[in-house]
Amino acid sequence: MSTAIPADEADSHGTAIAAERRWAWIVVAIMALLVAMMIFTGLHWSAMPPSRVETVDVKTLHLKGEFVESNLGTSVGADGKVTVRLIAQQYSFQPQCIVVPAGVPVTFRGTATDTIHGFVVGRTNANTMLIPAFVSTFTTTFPKPGEQLMPCHEYCGTGHEAMWAHVQVLPREEFLSRAARAERLTCVPR
Ligand code: CUA
Repeated sequence: MSTAIPADEADSHGTAIAAERRWAWIVVAIMALLVAMMIFTGLHWSAMPPSRVETVDVKTLHLKGEFVESNLGTSVGADGKVTVRLIAQQYSFQPQCIVVPAGVPVTFRGTATDTIHGFVVGRTNANTMLIPAFVSTFTTTFPKPGEQLMPCHEYCGTGHEAMWAHVQVLPREEFLSRAARAERLTCVPR
């Protein structure tokens, strides 16, 4: 009995090894590409910090400035721009019910008092983090009137899942007539 490998078997063995090697090189190339991308994006972003960083003093947040209680809610500026100011804290938003107009760009300005929170409004693209000492801003347009839920979406402690607010999207005319009567709008029951 011969121990030599038959010619065709040796041939297919060689083909298999070549294919294996080819795959190994492809995988190495993919890994090298991913590592290169990680290094590039890491260096790129550290060389280019976000263009707009706005800070606020957490210790005096409730006492003076933009985020005092009386200034929270929705306002219409002299230029007609709609701004919602809100703060997040364990485990609620203030205001708990936010009024916005439909079909008009709305700018949210928010911050947090204690830890990182966040919010998303229904299925819209209104979605941001609220970070102590930083002001987050976000502009979006709500296409149609209706009631939306606004849960906190950053784990912020044991009460996280109970942290909600509501957003009432009003028809534009109704919103503007209400805004003409009050400086700050909310839908929090009084
Ligand atoms: Cu606030 Cu989770």
